[in-house]
Amino acid sequence: MNKNSPKTIHLKDYTPPSHVIDRVGLDVTFHAEETAVSAHLAVRPNPDSPASEGPLELDGESLRLVRIAVDGKELAKGDYSTTDQKLTIHHPPARPFTLDISTLCSPKANTELSGLYLSNGIYCTQCEAEGFRRITYFLDRPDVLARFRVRIEAEKSEAPVLLANGNLIDSGDIAGTGRHFAVWEDPFPKPCYLFAMVGGNLAFVEDSFTTMSGRKIALRIYVEPGKEDRCGWAMESIKKSMAWDEQAFGREYDLDIFMIVAVSMFNMGAMENKGLNVFNDKYVLALPDSATDTDYSNIEAIIAHEYFHNWTGNRITCRDWFQLCLKEGLTVFRDQEFSSDVRSRAVKRIQDVRTLRAQQFPEDAGPLAHPVRPSSYIEINNFYTATVYEKGAEVVRMMKTLLGESVFRKAMDLYFTRYDGQAATIEDFVQCMSDASGRNLSQFFRWYEQAGTPELSVKSQWDKRSKTYVLKLTQRVPTTPGQPDKQPQHIPVAVGLVGPNGHDMALELDGEELLHESILELKAKSQTFRFKNIGSRPVPSINRGFSAPVKVTSDLTQKDLLFLMAHDSDPFNRWEAGQIIGKRLILDTMTKIKARRPVAEPKAYAAALSETLADRQADAQFKALMLNLPTEQDVASDIARNVDPQLIHNGRERLKQRIGRLMHSRLMQRWNATKITGPYSPDPASAGKRALRHASLALLAAADAKEGARLAMRHFRDARNMSDEIGALGVLIQLEEPERDEALQQYLDRHEDDHLLVDKWFALQAQMPTPEAAERVRSLMKHPRFNWQSPNRIRSLIGTFATFNSVGFNAPDGAGYRLLADVVLRLDKSNPQVAARLAASFRSYKALEGKRRRHAANALKSILEAPGLSRDTYEIVSRSLQ
Ligand code: BES
Ligand code: ZN
Repeated sequence: MNKNSPKTIHLKDYTPPSHVIDRVGLDVTFHAEETAVSAHLAVRPNPDSPASEGPLELDGESLRLVRIAVDGKELAKGDYSTTDQKLTIHHPPARPFTLDISTLCSPKANTELSGLYLSNGIYCTQCEAEGFRRITYFLDRPDVLARFRVRIEAEKSEAPVLLANGNLIDSGDIAGTGRHFAVWEDPFPKPCYLFAMVGGNLAFVEDSFTTMSGRKIALRIYVEPGKEDRCGWAMESIKKSMAWDEQAFGREYDLDIFMIVAVSMFNMGAMENKGLNVFNDKYVLALPDSATDTDYSNIEAIIAHEYFHNWTGNRITCRDWFQLCLKEGLTVFRDQEFSSDVRSRAVKRIQDVRTLRAQQFPEDAGPLAHPVRPSSYIEINNFYTATVYEKGAEVVRMMKTLLGESVFRKAMDLYFTRYDGQAATIEDFVQCMSDASGRNLSQFFRWYEQAGTPELSVKSQWDKRSKTYVLKLTQRVPTTPGQPDKQPQHIPVAVGLVGPNGHDMALELDGEELLHESILELKAKSQTFRFKNIGSRPVPSINRGFSAPVKVTSDLTQKDLLFLMAHDSDPFNRWEAGQIIGKRLILDTMTKIKARRPVAEPKAYAAALSETLADRQADAQFKALMLNLPTEQDVASDIARNVDPQLIHNGRERLKQRIGRLMHSRLMQRWNATKITGPYSPDPASAGKRALRHASLALLAAADAKEGARLAMRHFRDARNMSDEIGALGVLIQLEEPERDEALQQYLDRHEDDHLLVDKWFALQAQMPTPEAAERVRSLMKHPRFNWQSPNRIRSLIGTFATFNSVGFNAPDGAGYRLLADVVLRLDKSNPQVAARLAASFRSYKALEGKRRRHAANALKSILEAPGLSRDTYEIVSRSLQ
């Protein structure tokens, strides 16, 4: 790979494939060092391609070619050529033909975990985005859809279980040997990125689901033997997902069996291979004493996500990888809706916005900003981003808001009927929204094409005499790399006017625009909306439910915000009002600390929080979210330049301390009153109680470290489930008290045999908020339990450090940045995908104050200068430095 000339791929250059592959027969013999793959392909020239009479260029990587034949006749040396990326057949027949290709690959040598690899002795595959080319030569692109039939052969002792997509149609022993085979057939045409096969010593749990049309589907979860008892929650989650997709979208499962395999070595969270999802085992395995409430809800959401891909991704796939948000943004939207329906909608919305702000807003504000549908890339794996996923989901949600619930459902039905079995584009999807609603969405389409988080400013005025209330909305889309000039976007802004009695006022718009469910549609750069018959001054509640992914600045006073915090009928904006106050107070505290001036007591805010705590209507999880101050990242996003992460941390901690002191007795009472004594249940109400208990403990500890450490240690000792253990440790890790190391040691002694719990142990320590944290992380990298081969372990220690330890990572001497650069360089040689993801943690360095910014830039440059850098890391680092 010549890093100085990595090829950039552009959306505008899309052309259909020269050939179509209708059928694929694979014959695979598993062997750790040399797995043999014979592919039998039914190929024909593509009538829709001008290149159909030209050569056939197949993708292939890390393969050894053994034999190649066209229509059964072996090709001579001059009939084809190979490079390390391609196999070219110079003059393929101008009619349908068969192509036989035999190759060898090495699962054992595959440290990239893309293609066929070994995870803890289990053969497994990961083909999205471009891993299939590491299994055999192929047209490795999502618009080539083929029917697959796979025969796998292996030593019975090594791989007693053999799986692939679709239905098992044959299996048996091979007489006179210790070997056996299985043949799987998938009746649905699919792109090769959805191909999967697995082999190994696996146990399974089984259940079934009867679909709305009465078909009985077998459900199986495969895990390492001995872990069967940890699959119950995942199995329940599959059934809930299947039922929900039928009820919410009318979508039924289509094969006779649905399988999930849990593996411990996996680059991502999980993968939606047709009928055979492969999961990172941290998103499958759960028992009360091994998984936290967050783990339980992640498992539920990710199982749903991958299952929902069966329609949004698999039955309808993407024409090319630029259309990634067509499946990912839409499927995230669907899994968010699912979680909202099976849990609390208000809580889920707040959590999703927190994620968006933590991950997508910083991406959109820095050098790695890109549109929801990018127009170019060097390495597609770098575009599985928060922008494509989370902002992509917000864009779908905005269309639902604009169309209304029932028209949106019709539009989705239209999409499913019109494109079933095809590879589609974003244009196709939005056209369905437009056709079903009669609405013109051409301006709306800019959400897919313009990067950057739009800024919305709100000016309001009430005229007592004419009883009119005027809202003036102005939008600005910031400049992002490659996009200096932006056009106004079509923004649905949900609004309410809260009257002095705390109730929503009736809304009547002056002029032609009719108000549809209180959604203002901002299309121009600036627009004025006039409300009639407003007899008293209201407090405006803007962007309710976070109807658009924008940054709002308004002229609301602290008094207005406290009022919304107490009365807004929209729970999201109740929370949001608290966040805005919290952010203003943190910023004010920072100013005071810097000027060495005393910090005012946040009495009104603490009182408002206390009232929320006392609210009998609100659920516990909502209260816990109210108690969480805006994150350090939220504050940094607001400051936007010359950011001093240590000062933000100090300001936030100081405010927490003051609030903790002011609320001390109430928090103590909460902490005591929310203790659950019965057996653990992961249901949202119990989880909410625990979250509130942890939030209370965190504030108590901020108020008084010694007392906090004592309470947290008691919490830790009394813990009867993993949620409480981790909750207590999460508080202890913030404190420089002796209890911290004592508890960490006890935890490790207790759980050192469970790799998922050892991951948590590493992650906890990575979060210690001191500038010396880099040193601790460095020494933990030498710990016998650290493992450079395991993406989960690397993410637990180094990923957590770089994303969740702003003080440690941004140590003023640059030690955190140098640590990350060292890790990226080392990892780039074995697993470039994970290395590039870690390198993306530098994404906000340009907003830092000068000293840190220079240290970070130097660390980035040191990566870029290294010889033999992967395309993945090269792209992230070079774009960061631009
Ligand atoms: N299709 C992806 C998994 C994937 C991403 C494979 C990139 C290869 C390269 C899958 O559907 C997915 O999005 N997984 C997420 C979790 C999900 C709940 C958002 C993941 O793995 O992080
Ligand atoms: Zn996905």
